[in-house]
Amino acid sequence: MTNDALLRALERQPTDYTPVWLMRQAGRYLPEYRATRERAGSFLALAKSPALAAEVTLQPLERFALDAAILFSDILTVPDAMGLGLHFADGEGPRFARPLRDEAAIRALAAPDPADQLRYVIDAVREIRKALAGRVPLIGFAGSPFTLACYMVEGAGSDDWRALKTMLYARPDLLHRILEVNTRAVTDYLNAQIDAGAQVVMLFDTWGGQLSHAGYEEFSLAYSRRILSGLRRESGGRKVPSILFTKGGGAWLEAMAASGCTAVGLDWTVDPAAARARVGTRVALQGNLDPAALFAPPDAVRREVRRVLDAFGPAPGHVFNLGHGISQHTPVESVAALVDEVRTYSRRLRGAARSNP
Ligand code: CP3
Repeated sequence: MTNDALLRALERQPTDYTPVWLMRQAGRYLPEYRATRERAGSFLALAKSPALAAEVTLQPLERFALDAAILFSDILTVPDAMGLGLHFADGEGPRFARPLRDEAAIRALAAPDPADQLRYVIDAVREIRKALAGRVPLIGFAGSPFTLACYMVEGAGSDDWRALKTMLYARPDLLHRILEVNTRAVTDYLNAQIDAGAQVVMLFDTWGGQLSHAGYEEFSLAYSRRILSGLRRESGGRKVPSILFTKGGGAWLEAMAASGCTAVGLDWTVDPAAARARVGTRVALQGNLDPAALFAPPDAVRREVRRVLDAFGPAPGHVFNLGHGISQHTPVESVAALVDEVRTYSRRLRGAARSNP
């Protein structure tokens, strides 16, 4: 591997600079992504073509000195493979044709075989690894069982997740049944990605922060923990680190750090220094620039990047990222400024810490 800074930082080993990648780094803010999506016909057609998915996965790496590639796909491919019928209405986000609203549908739900219904993702992982030729590591991912259940029950995104919350309080047994199936499905799916060449895996719990304190443990973390303990630990003679990200999970960092993950992802509301004090040296931390900072001119982006790096400090175990996915309205120059500032400023920080311990 030419650049293993990400793998080293996730294991809290020293690196010369802070590695950086961005959630949703391949996406609509890039004109070349929009052109490829146009050629594919739709987002789903793009995600379902291993050759085109590989092409867009590499696009941000051609422009910016990023330290990782992330598989181009979507968390909702898993419920799609369960037969819920995913589609993207133009400009409206994801929708399911057959959301889980009655007991019979929930009883009939089964985990898909990743080698069969999700074959296109596994093929994409293999193609991307080939195309990367060891330049940087490849991150595979899945949605957490809870975040997948949010979309599966609601049938679309939501402000209040009313159908999901109604089920949670009225029929928790049904929600637990969905979460059981999702846990099996995500464990098999991530292990298939690892077998095909994913070198890091990340669990996206985008909606875990919508739960109550007790609910987060019962309906989200308990299942993520089971997935983390069921993952293959090694591939090709190297450890496969795992990252757990809960948006709005700042209250539960200690519990997340004890879940069996290698690293905890932080959203932008969390103070990095306080987070480090709370989790100790148990895990690496990933984050956490506010994605909205990228709407400002490059000088402001650079200032905010330095603020985040200062807050994490020079100790090993930080992976720079945004606190959530990059917006489609982000200027490309902002991303260039971010990546350059992370590289140059973190080198200086670490150099200063070494000569002045
Ligand atoms: O990070 C990456 O570059 C990898 C690709 C990736 C996508 N989705 C591509 C995508 C990843 C890791 C995801 C994860 C995902 N998908 C999450 C969890 C992370 C998060 O952002 O909270 C969620 C909740 C989804 C579900 C989803 N997919 C939504 C809500 C949407 C619509 C949002 C929007 O911006 O319109 C998608 C579509 C989607 N997934 C796009 C991309 C690039 C935009 C589709 C397009 O090109 O039109």
